[in-house]
Amino acid sequence: MCGIVGYVGSDNACDFLIGGLRRLEYRGYDSAGVAIYGGSTFHITRSVGRIDALAMQLGAVPPNGTLGLGHTRWATHGPATIENAHPHLGGDGEIVLVHNGVIENFQTLKDELIQKGYHFVSATDSEVIAHLVAESLKNTPETVGQPNLRYLNAVQGAISRLRGTYGLAIAFRDHPNFMIAARFGSPLVLGVGKGEYFVASDASPLVGRTDRIVYLADHQIAVLTPEGFSVLHRDQGKVRVNIRQLETDSSEATREGFEHYMLKEIYEQPESIRNAMRGRLDEENATAVFGGLNLTPQQSRMVERIILTGCGTSWHSGLVGEYLIEDLARIPVSVEYASELRYRNPPIENNTLVFGITQSGETADTLAALRETKRKGHRTLAICNVVGSSIAQAADGGVYLYAGPEIGVASTKAFTSQCCVLAMLGLYFGRLRHLSFERGKQIIEELRQLPNAIQQTLGCNEQVRDVAQKYQNASTVLYLGRQFNFPTALEGALKLKEISYIHAEGYPAAEMKHGPIALVDKETPSVFIIPRGTTYTKVMANMEEVKARGGPVIALANEDDPQVQAVADDVIHVPQVPEFLQPIVNVVPLQLLAYHIALLRGCDVDKPRNLAKSVTVE
Ligand code: F6R
Repeated sequence: MCGIVGYVGSDNACDFLIGGLRRLEYRGYDSAGVAIYGGSTFHITRSVGRIDALAMQLGAVPPNGTLGLGHTRWATHGPATIENAHPHLGGDGEIVLVHNGVIENFQTLKDELIQKGYHFVSATDSEVIAHLVAESLKNTPETVGQPNLRYLNAVQGAISRLRGTYGLAIAFRDHPNFMIAARFGSPLVLGVGKGEYFVASDASPLVGRTDRIVYLADHQIAVLTPEGFSVLHRDQGKVRVNIRQLETDSSEATREGFEHYMLKEIYEQPESIRNAMRGRLDEENATAVFGGLNLTPQQSRMVERIILTGCGTSWHSGLVGEYLIEDLARIPVSVEYASELRYRNPPIENNTLVFGITQSGETADTLAALRETKRKGHRTLAICNVVGSSIAQAADGGVYLYAGPEIGVASTKAFTSQCCVLAMLGLYFGRLRHLSFERGKQIIEELRQLPNAIQQTLGCNEQVRDVAQKYQNASTVLYLGRQFNFPTALEGALKLKEISYIHAEGYPAAEMKHGPIALVDKETPSVFIIPRGTTYTKVMANMEEVKARGGPVIALANEDDPQVQAVADDVIHVPQVPEFLQPIVNVVPLQLLAYHIALLRGCDVDKPRNLAKSVTVE
């Protein structure tokens, strides 16, 4: 949700700012802007829409300057207009600021500042911070010989009054060789170059510019000049920070010949699943191993309950995890929307593990749910893709997905990697309990076959494209499956909704009779996920029920299945895999179906309207 960048050095700031904003565009794309210090003042350029529009506005000769900051917005307070686009100015223009986050007490602060004579031009909460810093600066005396200190003290004074979350980069017209970055609740990293320093909402803008990164923690403030940087903590004063090696390969952040990131990421799944499993399958003991759980085998054996929490697609993989872990490890599992869990007060027994599942590691609700359960004394763990993200840092331990950057706003490879990690966790906990050595070996073998099965499934692309062609004008689509394939149905429906804007609903197939069947008519297709398995005949009966009411049926079924072929209007073939791995394979054609329908409808597949990749607000 919103992306910010900053540059201090000797190079042209604009190149980094625009390049960095393009990489952060997935975080929001309602409007964008940059401020570049050009010798005597800041040149501010803002535009509504994408970074391309901003770049166009900057023209062939963008402002030259060696200090600047930029922002790409996902609107929270106020619509996407030029006035609401960042950077915002404070005072009479002496403060220039970009902000990611939400300020909850902005109205109180705004009223106070208006009373003091400050003039607001936007409806944003962020402009309040800019004026608040200006007001604080007015009341902060100079410290002889330390010109930066006054500005730092002023920013500290201002942010101490904020309630909510912020990632901030702030520059000063009258002290232009210097920038301050501050973080609470919204992610912020620093890039450490040679004679140049960078600020960004995540690591992606740094790729190709520096491989040295600092992940700022909450309540930390960084001061950056061309000569160096320092970090202070609100309560601890100056702190020594860990400069880490940035491991992202720049090729991972490009489309590599695919028309869209989403398609590339769908096709990466055989590899991302291999990466999720690499080094984690222990043949000798027929189990899985996880270095980062920070649990002894004895502690793991004592686990009495597992809570899986997350949002959106990550919540769906939690539902898959519920089936998996209960089946393989016989531990009771509950799956909670993080946004609900954070405000509920459920009794949580001792020996409960709480897993936050998240691709970005920044989702505000998931972070808050983990913090809340941790505060109550439970061990919290993250299943997370982004190394060093807020949730990875906040949890007591966890498992990284190693799926590589997921840039398409609709999550694809993160889902399958999350399910794979949850299957391995089921194996791990199962092997500490009742699961036999032989069954453990078999599961490992089945997991090892998984990348090939996904590869084989990707062969359905042409078939899926034809189906998409046929149903692209539907206004509602139902997705139906049972057991392991119920969450897959939910995920298929979510994918279609978010990128093609067609209304879709996922249901357990048998629940259809209790309401949604009323939607069935000859214009409303139903997608049945019906590979062979324990509920096959039951789902078959549900499919017949839809067919009998004139509803078009698209079936995801195994290749040699004449029974399904006889009933369904269209069949998409999926390879036969063990039931516990079916969601990982069966979701692939559903991702492709959403992709092709969205494409045929002329939708922006990688950046669907109103969405952002990383939801850092409640
Ligand atoms: C859907 C999608 C979202 C995310 C959700 C959680 O395609 O991407 O529903 O799954 O916003 O995000 P993470 O996993 O980053 O916590």
